[in-house]
Amino acid sequence: MNNMNIDQLFNQHFADSPAGATTEKPVVVCAPGRVNLIGEHTDYNDGFVFPMALDRVTTIAARRRTDTRVRIFSMMQDQMAEFTVDLEVAKAAPKWSLYARGAAEALRQRGLIAHGMDALIHSDVPLGSGLSSSAAFEVATALALLTVNGRTLDGVELAKACQWAEHHYAGMPCGIMDQFISVMGQEGHALLLDCRDLSRRQVPLSDPNLRILVANTNVKHELVQGEYQARRNQCRRAVEHLAKRYPQVKALRDVTLDMLESVRLGMDPMVFLRATHVITENKRTTDFAAALEKNDWITAGRLMYESHRSLRDDYGVSCRELDVLVEIARSVPGVYGARMTGGGFGGCIVSLLPEKVVPLLEAAIAKDYPLQTNLKSTYFVTRPSAGARVISR
Ligand code: GLA
Repeated sequence: MNNMNIDQLFNQHFADSPAGATTEKPVVVCAPGRVNLIGEHTDYNDGFVFPMALDRVTTIAARRRTDTRVRIFSMMQDQMAEFTVDLEVAKAAPKWSLYARGAAEALRQRGLIAHGMDALIHSDVPLGSGLSSSAAFEVATALALLTVNGRTLDGVELAKACQWAEHHYAGMPCGIMDQFISVMGQEGHALLLDCRDLSRRQVPLSDPNLRILVANTNVKHELVQGEYQARRNQCRRAVEHLAKRYPQVKALRDVTLDMLESVRLGMDPMVFLRATHVITENKRTTDFAAALEKNDWITAGRLMYESHRSLRDDYGVSCRELDVLVEIARSVPGVYGARMTGGGFGGCIVSLLPEKVVPLLEAAIAKDYPLQTNLKSTYFVTRPSAGARVISR
């Protein structure tokens, strides 16, 4: 969407119902998707994550309305969704609108919305690919609504409001990572976030020769939501079991491998494995941040491969296509490391490599992935970018 065609698009999609509409200049906001470098399935265990915001964003151009109607035209779906924000926002079709409805409801409950909006939405975050297109949509919607209402919300509160939307309107019991980084991303930095107290450190990724390549399996297995909930339940069971011996344990964050080993007897072996992943992944994540601060890419890359192995074997959230892509990355000399990123069961891998190796990895993915899966991968080089922002008002 550029300034030139925004007016045209507004006329095209919103001219039909002038009552309540205004002719004010639209505000334009955007919110990025994310890629998580390491720290997977740790956020809902009070652990550490290390995501960065992508240079791919969901953009919303919005015009305040005098009434409480919200009309959103999705340029990806080529469809209009409509709801009102005076009373509790309805959980209604179309399905894609649930993210926007949830975000609006979270703000309504905080007393922040007096006006609805006419809004156009466009996204270049690949949808449903584990790059948090849904968080980007929620955050962009919330920011658009706040802006047309002349309100602001502290970043942490904004992230929590959007996480609430994901839980209650999209039915996905996610942690805080995706919404948090979509709000808090900083150009040139990845974010080490402690999901227990939300303390955080922006870690510069400043080596000019370093590249981050994301490759999409282009599969999404249907298991995602159910398996995600199942993993959360297993983690809870692990904590309950551990707390009998160690009453101070409130989350897997509080557990060492020695403690886990000491209560192994009588523990469901599957639950034991899941807990092993979370405990080792927390350690890998803080080690990874330390390696990055020393520009030690070799160590950082090794931790990524170990993370993938742990997600595949101990946490059981990988899939064949993700494993194939990671092995392709490993087969290319010079690649530092690669792993699945996001919830799993499809979606993307993230890899760390020197600039000069990028064409080699791209060629290997283009040739070998179809051979092994009959599928095509789409891939792109990305860089750590800024979080949600108002572009013009
Ligand atoms: C999804 C969730 C996040 C996080 C990851 C796994 O992306 O939305 O909160 O739990 O899975 O690390």
